[in-house]
Amino acid sequence: MNKQEVILCQQLGSDLTGVIGRKNYDKVFILTDQHTHDLCMPVLNRANNLQQTTEITIGAEDVHKNLDTLASVWMALSTQGASRHSLLINLGGGMVTDLGGFAASTFKRGIDYINIPTTLLSMVDASVGGKTGINFNGLKNEVGVFSPAVSVLIETEFLRTLDAHNFFSGYAEMLKHGLISTDRHWSELLAFDTECIDYGRLKELVGQSVQVKEDIVEQDPHEHGIRKALNLGHTIGHAFESLALAEDRPVLHGYAVAWGLVCELYLSHLKCGFPKEKMQQSIHFIRQNYGAFHFECPHYDRLYELMKHDKKNMAGIINFTLLSDVGHICLNQTADKGVIFEVFDFYRECMGL
Ligand code: GLY
Repeated sequence: MNKQEVILCQQLGSDLTGVIGRKNYDKVFILTDQHTHDLCMPVLNRANNLQQTTEITIGAEDVHKNLDTLASVWMALSTQGASRHSLLINLGGGMVTDLGGFAASTFKRGIDYINIPTTLLSMVDASVGGKTGINFNGLKNEVGVFSPAVSVLIETEFLRTLDAHNFFSGYAEMLKHGLISTDRHWSELLAFDTECIDYGRLKELVGQSVQVKEDIVEQDPHEHGIRKALNLGHTIGHAFESLALAEDRPVLHGYAVAWGLVCELYLSHLKCGFPKEKMQQSIHFIRQNYGAFHFECPHYDRLYELMKHDKKNMAGIINFTLLSDVGHICLNQTADKGVIFEVFDFYRECMGL
């Protein structure tokens, strides 16, 4: 996989002009969803004179991350004259960058694409690392390819208009990057004042966070080994997310990851000796900022079944990424049902349920 360029923008307009100008693209398309068409496209237009571009707008939210929407993007590219030498710019959150990346990577066997993420979650996670795809057959990201964007342009000014829930959703992935990297980055994240956001400081933290992910993806782009570190908090987090969806009380991805981190840090403590104090400090931050996901003992079996169907498993054995300390990663860990239920007990007790 080619290395992906990630630019922490000083000036979105000139950074974008520079990237587009490197190749002689015959046409430039911009993919937006209804939200980013209204809120972010005007910002991009002010930053850069994009008169020669064609905008394709799709429905917003995960419900549109499907084959029909993908086909509509292929159709728009095809009917509006996109060639192998065209460029697609994805302007949006993870749904737009995942689906747009997949559309570009498959159209005429692959055209260049650029991601301009507009949410914190997509800046620090979805838009970086070359995972593209759509939901299919009721399963998240069931069909897709690894295919990196030519460039990812991160403009943190978009974060000023992000609501608190979406801010914290992205921040959970940053916290995960802190836990898998260094004590210093982890403690800076815990110390950040999330009530009165200093956007200059946030930009620095976003830059560090993206660097953690880039370093890992560069070593293992196709997730055969160390890239699994990025799954910390996700084995149980995905089960919470799926249960919440099935019970018609959906939660944002990052919230599920934060609650998954509570469980998987405790499992890390039990199985790998993760220090208790660091576990408690992390859990305190999550409890204060994310509240708790409510579930009762009768949900344990259902959560366990959901974990058994996680696509990260091999031969039905639940696969965890755990830590023996901050930055000390233990890949391919397992735990039996009894231990997992003990983790659920711990979670409910420490979150006050
Ligand atoms: N979101 C985890 C990864 O990109 O591998």
